[in-house]
Amino acid sequence: VTRFEPNLRIPGPTALPPSVREAGGRQMVNHRGEEFKALLQRVSEGMKPYFGTQHDVIMLTCAGTGGLEAAIVNTLSPGDRVLAVTMGSFGDRFAKIAEVYGASVSRLEVEWGMAPSPAAVRAAAAETPDLKAVLLTHNETSTGVTSDIAALAAAVREAAPNALILVDAISALGAVPFAMDEWGLDLVVTGSQKAWMAAPGMAMAAVGPRAWAAAETATMPRFYLDLSRHRETAPAGETPWTPAVAVMYQVDEGLRLMQAEGEGVYRRHEVAQAMTRAGLRALGFELLAEDAVASKTVTAAWIPETLDWKSFNGALKRNGLVLAGGQGKLKGRIFRLGHLGSVTTDDILAAIGVLEQAAIEHGLDVRPGAAVAAAQQALVEARVRVAVTA
Ligand SMILES: Cc1ncc(COP(=O)(O)O)c(C=O)c1O
Repeated sequence: VTRFEPNLRIPGPTALPPSVREAGGRQMVNHRGEEFKALLQRVSEGMKPYFGTQHDVIMLTCAGTGGLEAAIVNTLSPGDRVLAVTMGSFGDRFAKIAEVYGASVSRLEVEWGMAPSPAAVRAAAAETPDLKAVLLTHNETSTGVTSDIAALAAAVREAAPNALILVDAISALGAVPFAMDEWGLDLVVTGSQKAWMAAPGMAMAAVGPRAWAAAETATMPRFYLDLSRHRETAPAGETPWTPAVAVMYQVDEGLRLMQAEGEGVYRRHEVAQAMTRAGLRALGFELLAEDAVASKTVTAAWIPETLDWKSFNGALKRNGLVLAGGQGKLKGRIFRLGHLGSVTTDDILAAIGVLEQAAIEHGLDVRPGAAVAAAQQALVEARVRVAVTA
């Protein structure tokens, strides 16, 4: 036994800090009473700086996918023209939801592992007559790529000033700076099990005035995910339906920890990313995303054709390291290492150490200690870099 708890290095659900775990075990309260009112208001307000918004943040009891569905059904009508910019399986899912509800979806498909260019988005938006909405993925968890939402949103506004901009920010919001209002985004979604260090079960949606205006005329069917019902009940400190109270306790505690850490949250994710990339490269793995577009929360690497992945991953699991595999067309071809939420430098050093051991046992050409040293070197350099820019 190398660890009493696994090193859960998947891109969500993320490991829970002890105080978050304890928060989830608290006694229930009346969800129509004063304690819940204070909790809901504290959490919705506490989220706003991370979204970079002054607008409403709605707490939904559902998976992140429910938040994406809410973004679609509350703002659109069947037949509406939608441009889905997709760079991986989560972008495809967002597009699919719009299609299922009857939107007329055209896709700008970016090669998996790459990020969309503002010029391509501008051109695609300009080509679509009566464009009602553009769907963007902030951080594509299936490939480990982050897009430049500020630049993409500016491109959309140039080509189609009236189009709504709906953003899946599920897997990096909270871990990297974000500025919904400054960038002119209309609806942004995230999920409790990612950077927020809480269990799965809640999606958070920030809704701007243009999205609320669109909701007044949008005719896609909705009931459970009707955001206007949440808006109506929010002033009384209630949600329309019984919320996941225990998950909200955890989100509340996660936010408290994040607030105490301040800007350090962003620096910690930067350092974890740099260490991960250096460590994996030192092991000889080729990374899917180039540095310029690489995600701060998840890193994807190609599985070498000569490596028996099943046996290799078995060794990782026996030594307490849990990684994620590939999704969609990358299934069996890549592995992904999550570095978000409660991630520490120790977690990454430990993960690289286990990977290194398994690599040596599986005949990869690695000198013992080389990958851990590379991660450690990246830690030293990243600490200097982020200290200088902080
Ligand atoms: C970018 C992105 N979008 C959507 C989802 C879906 O969230 P959920 O699995 O909570 O429905 C995820 C979850 O991994 C994600 O990373």
